[in-house]
Amino acid sequence: MRIYKEKDYEAMSRRAANIIAAQVMLKPDCVLGLATGSSPIGAYECLVGQYRVGDLDFAAVRTVNLDEYKGLGAGDEQSYVNFMNENLFSKINIAKENTNVPNGLNEDADGECARYDEVIAGMGGIDLQLLGIGNNGHIGFNEPAESFAKGTHEVRLTENTREANARFFSSLDKVPTAAYTMGIQSIMQAKTILLIASGKAKAQAVRDAFCGPITPQVPASVLQLHPDVILVGDEEALSLM
Ligand code: GLP
Repeated sequence: MRIYKEKDYEAMSRRAANIIAAQVMLKPDCVLGLATGSSPIGAYECLVGQYRVGDLDFAAVRTVNLDEYKGLGAGDEQSYVNFMNENLFSKINIAKENTNVPNGLNEDADGECARYDEVIAGMGGIDLQLLGIGNNGHIGFNEPAESFAKGTHEVRLTENTREANARFFSSLDKVPTAAYTMGIQSIMQAKTILLIASGKAKAQAVRDAFCGPITPQVPASVLQLHPDVILVGDEEALSLM
């Protein structure tokens, strides 16, 4: 495991973007697993900057996103598909058909999850998976549970997660109660995993994930078993390590 302790959010974002950029340069047709939330916004901005000055080419890159709120789609401001379009896809030369996000508008959970697992399998595996981390140690929307869920599945969001994500919505009751998320197995099968964390609120989760026991009660703790994990955090997020 490699750990980069950076001064602040901006430095964390630059470091993360450089790792993603290196992947794209080394393998222009790579598969990137992407994440949403406030943590990756700065890294996406850096990647857009590198694309604009001609240092990066996303023409052959394929992407697969971790998760989506159930009930939200591209027309919803708070959907993750909209987040990705606004923060990254519309600002780089990636082909829309090469990007994948679970379809939150598909009410057939079994059908959507099976479809998404086929999409991931059809891509031949993820080269680099970017992850944020929830305050309770969740990755994607894999919430603390009795066991690690393997494939894409529907999940009930915990109140902790709904409250943490309420800042993006007009009120708590607007935050969806369910989501589709890639499973732990798909995440663990990525060749390299890049987890980013910023701010004091993440310090305990980061410590529990990397210094505590491996348990589905802290979903990110499973990453201790992955052979190639890169943790990039700012000083506050890594303060308890
Ligand atoms: C959401 C997402 C996660 C993300 C987490 C942390 O729950 N499903 O993928 O890592 O929030 O978000 P943030 O980066 O905003 O703290």
